[in-house]
Amino acid sequence: MLLPCVRRVPARRLRRALPLACSCPAQGPSPRGYSRGAGGKGLVLGIYSSEKDEGAAQFTSAGDAFDRLVSGKLRELLSLCGPPLKKGKTRIFHGLHQDFPSVAVVGLGKKNAGVNDQENWNEGKENIRAAVAVGCRQIQDLEIPCVEVDPCGDAQAAAEGAVLGLHEYNELKQKKKPVVTPQLHGSAESEAWQKGVTYAEGQNLARYLMEAPANYITPIKFAEHIEQKLRSFSNVKVHIRPESWIATQEMGAFLSVAKGSAEPPIFLEIHYLGGANTNDSPLVFVGKGVTFDSGGISLKPSSGMDAMRADMGGAATVCSAIVTAAALNLPLNIIGLAPLCENMPSGKANKPGDVVRAKNGKTIQVDNTDAEGRLLLADALCYAHNFKPRAVVNAATLTGAMDVALGSAATGVFTNSSWLWTHLYEASVLTGDRVWRMPLFEHYTKQVTDCPLADLSNIGKYSRAGGACTAAAFLKEFVTASHWAHLDIAGVMSNKDEVPYLQKGMAGRPTRTLVEFAARLSQDSHNTK
Ligand code: BES
Ligand code: ZN
Ligand code: ZN
Repeated sequence: MLLPCVRRVPARRLRRALPLACSCPAQGPSPRGYSRGAGGKGLVLGIYSSEKDEGAAQFTSAGDAFDRLVSGKLRELLSLCGPPLKKGKTRIFHGLHQDFPSVAVVGLGKKNAGVNDQENWNEGKENIRAAVAVGCRQIQDLEIPCVEVDPCGDAQAAAEGAVLGLHEYNELKQKKKPVVTPQLHGSAESEAWQKGVTYAEGQNLARYLMEAPANYITPIKFAEHIEQKLRSFSNVKVHIRPESWIATQEMGAFLSVAKGSAEPPIFLEIHYLGGANTNDSPLVFVGKGVTFDSGGISLKPSSGMDAMRADMGGAATVCSAIVTAAALNLPLNIIGLAPLCENMPSGKANKPGDVVRAKNGKTIQVDNTDAEGRLLLADALCYAHNFKPRAVVNAATLTGAMDVALGSAATGVFTNSSWLWTHLYEASVLTGDRVWRMPLFEHYTKQVTDCPLADLSNIGKYSRAGGACTAAAFLKEFVTASHWAHLDIAGVMSNKDEVPYLQKGMAGRPTRTLVEFAARLSQDSHNTK
């Protein structure tokens, strides 16, 4: 006999009624190892909240189908377990079906959630990513090696949630978390699922590079890792330029930072030729690649300095976006440029007050050696113009001030082009990895051009005021392209618990937005020649 749908059922009564285990927070047997060796898979199913507060929750079509398969037992158990599942909450059931010894049911929130104009993202997609990530992690905790995932009406978002949610940097630990492979439940939407897997794997590549210690990901190791990822694509060419090449290019600003370290610099140059014509004007991505930023002679405080192993996040996200674009075979040409070096204090390091000369001839007074990212980018941006780009987009963990301004809610975008802004913005609404437009006023330019010894100072004259904006104004001095955007990603570099589908650690943001942006650009015929 089935029990009526009640809010609270004592565990004893529940077990008597149904010989199935439900590990709702306070009941059921310990699930660990429940299905090990049984050969079954985990299953993650979504469930919507009802429109009315008191109404019954609504399964997705996959949830409905599974419930029919188990003769309505899933619905019954859920109602016995307590109130309808809230968004992002999960319940796990064991023994319902022999092929799926463990089933995680996850709350998706409202069924009709779509683009939220206040939040600037697609809430439905975000809900799916978050819910699926939580469900997959529950299956991982049970040490079940394979999990099938309900597409929840948007297989791309579901795949992203699964692949992003399961990622963790385990590389250097002897005891690793079990590897769990997510698969699409059912056969519909397999193309969208695969697209989501590819997008998420791109972001995970950036997370891996950012999280890895600086003694593992040195400039040369970074370049070799990316080269290896691109080796199988016949339409990609990778150049790993050594210090001697950087010198012949007269990249004096970049070299001045690099010379402070014993680790040699690298200029990584990637050519992805996916366009109909190999000579179609490319999109150029530039990424700050400081594999460790100690601050140099203007040394940073020691507390938290380890996070500066991720100061190559700009290089990691743009290079990972190109790897992803190649995997998706996007029909456009992309060039990736990553100046890679360490910023260290030494007898050869830049000293405050030193003057260096960038590739375009402009002189720069290095008033603070910790404002090193803009020195690398100045030369890389000059070099980017050699390719007659249709657009130049750079990404950099450039300023602590960006983190102060927006925190981890969104990447700050400084751009001279509303066309570029619109594409970046629209891409970010879909990916949920948001952008927010910031000013490039002359007001800030004056604060970096008023300099005692050189054409420019590498810091604003009013010290910390508008620090992210003065940094952007500095970069603008090295740009002649009419479609350029600078993405300051310092605030989104790492995740504590703000993004529910990313575990704690380096975030690899905004890789998916860059990929989606490139995909959109490949569909826009404006300015291709
Ligand atoms: N890499 C840092 C910026 C940063 C800070 C990134 C926190 C991620 C998290 C950059 O090189 C830097 O140190 N910038 C200075 C600039 C200042 C000296 C004008 C900063 O933000 O303090
Ligand atoms: Zn710095
Ligand atoms: Zn830095």
